[in-house]
Amino acid sequence: MKPTTEPRIAPNERPKTYRVKSFGCQMNVYDGERMGEMLDEQGMSAAPEGEDADLVVLNTCHIREKAAEKIYSDIGRLTKGKTQEKAPMIAVAGCVAQAEGEEIMTRAPAVSMVVGPQAYHRLPDMVDNAVKGKRSTDTDMPAIAKFGALPTRKRRAPSAFLTVQEGCDKFCTYCVVPYTRGAEISRPFTGLIEEAKRLIDSGAREITLLGQNVNAWSHEDDKGRAIGLDGLIRELAKIPDLQRIRYTTSHPNDFTPGLIAAHAEVDKLMPYLHLPVQSGSDRVLKAMNRQHTAQGYLKLLEKMREARPDMALSGDFIVGFPGETDAEFEETLSLVDEVRYAQAYSFKYSPRPGTPAATMDNQIAREVMDERLQRLQASINRDQLAFNANTVGTTCSLLVERKGKLEGQWLGKSPWLQSIWFEGDAQIGDMVEVDVIEAGANSVQGVLRK
Ligand code: SAH
Ligand code: SF4
Ligand code: F3S
Repeated sequence: MKPTTEPRIAPNERPKTYRVKSFGCQMNVYDGERMGEMLDEQGMSAAPEGEDADLVVLNTCHIREKAAEKIYSDIGRLTKGKTQEKAPMIAVAGCVAQAEGEEIMTRAPAVSMVVGPQAYHRLPDMVDNAVKGKRSTDTDMPAIAKFGALPTRKRRAPSAFLTVQEGCDKFCTYCVVPYTRGAEISRPFTGLIEEAKRLIDSGAREITLLGQNVNAWSHEDDKGRAIGLDGLIRELAKIPDLQRIRYTTSHPNDFTPGLIAAHAEVDKLMPYLHLPVQSGSDRVLKAMNRQHTAQGYLKLLEKMREARPDMALSGDFIVGFPGETDAEFEETLSLVDEVRYAQAYSFKYSPRPGTPAATMDNQIAREVMDERLQRLQASINRDQLAFNANTVGTTCSLLVERKGKLEGQWLGKSPWLQSIWFEGDAQIGDMVEVDVIEAGANSVQGVLRK
């Protein structure tokens, strides 16, 4: 879709309000928050809910075709029927910006800035340029420059994200992430501890450590010793006001015995693991270049459950990878039956430009993918319901995150990442205890303990 207005040229006025719209993974959510904080420092403020913003940052995702195409309809919606003065200044950030920067600039003249995921610290300069009527693109990937240049954290929410690792060297044959986020890097230990402390000082009680391959994080600690993610978790656990630690997303090949042991030994580390497997067929896993087998994955989960018997497991699946036969898809269903996930995400394979799988033979017909996805999701929902039903009758601690739909209702997260609602006297950020009394696949109810 072509935008209906010309670019917003030299308005000679700085935007006063902004809105950052983040799509895709949690790392984009984290980046979106950091961009917002940077724009605050430039003297702008977040546009109130329901009001138009002077500057809109579309923080995009390139993982599947549908996600990537969304930006053109969003740009159309932002500019449709608006005069040049009224249309907002538009910045495209995130993984589509990285992958298709030049194309966006030609296809969407209403866009003033294109900024890749490793260049966010340049956003304020780019806004200055846009005010002068100059469009700019920055998709450089200077390792780690952005984190040091980002402003101090001042987010006030009980649950906070903290990106510790970025990028991917795995090159699964279907995936764009190694191209959009670049090579694997780990952020230095000291900066992470400082950022965590600032998040906790401003109200965070739970921190989720983020990375495309978060369990590949490794660095030297403050005494110069090489440590892995388990070492970082153990250090964070020493901070008194931090109650809960999580991490996501892991790759099966990056697990260390130390990280598995941390699940048995660190109380603050929550019993929840998101570990994508993609397929239950070794032939398909090989074609995907996953570098692990179905058995290897199951063995790892077994060790995890030995360390932490109540571990809730989650995963990602792709159905309809090129050449996937009915029998191979059945192997995925068998793996799901064996694992009994507490929850899981499943996607239809989407060919991505520039990835090896996009040009493989035997692309699978849409109807076949639809049917496989439905069957897989039915199995996942069955297990999710069973997992939730299993918690009925137990007492469980919740971190209260937000108000519920009705007056007097609250929503909190259980250690196993279930959203549980209850009524009564509480505040956002409280840790409360509830008795779980009812559970569906997507909704669980608790009663507050006095
Ligand atoms: N680093 C993580 C997550 C990467 S992206 C990992 O390795 O698992 C999140 C999920 O999107 C993937 O786990 C995969 O299930 C899905 N995905 C990635 N590329 C895809 C594609 N081309 N089509 C469909 N799903 C895809
Ligand atoms: Fe993509 Fe594979 Fe890297 Fe995950 S491990 S980000 S799926 S290439
Ligand atoms: Fe999407 Fe980029 Fe995340 S492609 S899933 S936003 S790393």
